[in-house]
Amino acid sequence: MNSEISGTMSSHELGSYFSNDYIYFGDIINAPEISDRQAQLIVDLLALRQGDQVLELGCGYGRITNRLAEKGVQVTGLDLSPVLIKEAEEGAAERGVKVEYVLGDMRALPWRDRFDAAFLWFTTFGYFDDADNERVLREAASSLRKGGRLLIDHANRYYFLRHKSPMCYVTRRNDNVRIDIYSDDVLSDRSNIERIVVRDGCVRRTYLSFRQYGFSDYVRMLQTAGFKNVECYGQEGGAFTSDSSRLIVVACK
Ligand SMILES: C[S@@+](CC[C@H](N)C(=O)[O-])C[C@H]1O[C@@H](n2cnc3c(N)ncnc32)[C@H](O)[C@@H]1O
Repeated sequence: MNSEISGTMSSHELGSYFSNDYIYFGDIINAPEISDRQAQLIVDLLALRQGDQVLELGCGYGRITNRLAEKGVQVTGLDLSPVLIKEAEEGAAERGVKVEYVLGDMRALPWRDRFDAAFLWFTTFGYFDDADNERVLREAASSLRKGGRLLIDHANRYYFLRHKSPMCYVTRRNDNVRIDIYSDDVLSDRSNIERIVVRDGCVRRTYLSFRQYGFSDYVRMLQTAGFKNVECYGQEGGAFTSDSSRLIVVACK
């Protein structure tokens, strides 16, 4: 276990990981047609209708929020990273859509009883210790109107753990490379990523650590936060099994 990269993430560590390099390799990881499919899946699983007010927590550079806005949904995107929020705003302007982008922390949200739905997409949950992760769920619940739905899309830990740890994953764009070294901490149920980016002759090293909750953990945490009817799906919205690469949880306030 590497204690340096285990446990809760600080805002500074998150800001370093989710910055310009994250945007630069973004379309290689999620090609535009993949993001199109993911946005449609979110519409289907949350049963979104034109005019619904929807909140994405950890919206990144707006690859999902801007697409949802094109579908007629009223979207708000919140993120901790000013660099990513700026990119998201530019993307919205390019697409000619209106999205409310807010710089903020998902652990302390400014809204009460406002949204029809909220979601955290692409492993955007579990960065903190259990108390703060559960606080995120309570804040999401408070932001939703009664009957509002919450969706969380996360790596499926059973699928994840099938790969021998540490695992190395290389992404290349032009002459630049991003090397992700994944390791699992079986004592804290966290996965850790050490990321080395070699870009334009510079080397940058950042870290990400996230908690790997199972479905029964989500049920317990979501019910404690005030949700009911907790359901799960695999990637593409099919049945969730140990072979699913993703665990998608949907619950109702
Ligand atoms: C894995 S990215 C996913 C981005 C986006 N959901 C997507 O699918 O492209 C996680 C995002 O969560 C944001 N984030 C991390 N911690 C946060 C916090 N405490 N409050 C708000 N956003 C946060 C990061 O800045 C990053 O943009």
